Amino acid sequence: MRAAFFDRQGAAQEVLQVGAMADPEPRCGEVRVKVVVSGLNPSDMKTRTGFAGAPMSFERIIPHQDGAGIIDRVGPGVPSNRLGERVWVYMAQFGRPFGSAAEYVVVPSVQAVPLADSVSFETGATIGVAGMTAHRCLFADGDIRGKRVLIQGGAGAVGNAAILLAKWAGAWVAATVSRSEQAEVARAAGADLVINRHEEDVAQRLKEATAGRGVDRIVDVNLTTNIEVAMGSLAPDGVAVAYSSEDPTGMLQIPFIPALFGGFAFRFVYVYRMPQASLLLAANDISACAASGAYRPAIALRLPLDRIVEAHEAQESGKMIGKILLEVQPCK
Ligand SMILES: NC(=O)c1ccc[n+]([C@@H]2O[C@H](COP(=O)([O-])OP(=O)(O)OC[C@H]3O[C@@H](n4cnc5c(N)ncnc54)[C@H](OP(=O)(O)O)[C@@H]3O)[C@@H](O)[C@H]2O)c1
Repeated sequence: MRAAFFDRQGAAQEVLQVGAMADPEPRCGEVRVKVVVSGLNPSDMKTRTGFAGAPMSFERIIPHQDGAGIIDRVGPGVPSNRLGERVWVYMAQFGRPFGSAAEYVVVPSVQAVPLADSVSFETGATIGVAGMTAHRCLFADGDIRGKRVLIQGGAGAVGNAAILLAKWAGAWVAATVSRSEQAEVARAAGADLVINRHEEDVAQRLKEATAGRGVDRIVDVNLTTNIEVAMGSLAPDGVAVAYSSEDPTGMLQIPFIPALFGGFAFRFVYVYRMPQASLLLAANDISACAASGAYRPAIALRLPLDRIVEAHEAQESGKMIGKILLEVQPCK
């Protein structure tokens, strides 16, 4: 098969190669997916560059956790009626060397989730990391129907997925952005209120929009920086959920008395440590949301597999608004 891979960590153009590799074979409990589209995430960049000193965990790595395609082989123990199934895959390269940037990827059967005929492979390849993270952030603390939710970073991949899922689940959703192109993406996802975090007082806007009450949930891309906004925006018993931090100190400072008096809770979500039951729930819910037509994340860039270096550089630029996808092979 054709695959993209790296044998050492470093800059995309220095270490990423595209070439021939042996076709993988599914073992017990696994399926092989003929990959149509592979999806990129910041964590794929971190694996390639050795984020926080993490070494190469395998001699050779085919990158990318997310993808979508068709099951073309099943291992022992997997029902043969899965053959030919359209699927989206998550965590394809988690704990294993070969991810979805290849013509074939092998994953545990449970990580190949049925994709409705009405949902494109492109959309399927956007789901994985961003969708599962967003789902956990939104639903780990219970149903959000009728709740008010703030998504900090509503044009980011996780933030955009969070808007889509929160609207699908019946919440009122506010989202922050930093420029007009991002505002369009947040609105297109269904945000009820879009706030430019550089130009407006986010907490004030939220208080005005919620008759002074504030929001029940916050899904935050950078809570260390946004903690004051969170304290000023949460309704009593509100929950702030953090999945990322850009603060180099890594310290989150929470003002104790306001948090105490508000009865606030703080949750941290790391997709690669989600409980199995939460992964299964997220996969079911996101598939249902997608099948209903409500899961349509913004797509910033589509490139063929051979142009994976450009795709990685675009992901690292921080300038893209929407998911970056690699078209691996046509769906036949
Ligand atoms: N914990 C987990 O399991 C998990 C899962 C997925 C991703 N992540 C991490 O989460 C981060 C974002 O991932 P992503 O795929 O969503 O990235 P992305 O598509 O690049 O989106 C990041 C978004 O956050 C916005 N942003 C940055 N600082 C902000 C702030 N202080 N307040 C509000 N918005 C802000 C950015 O807007 P600007 O253009 O204005 O900066 C951008 O729209 C990455 O570091 C990634 O590794 C963690």
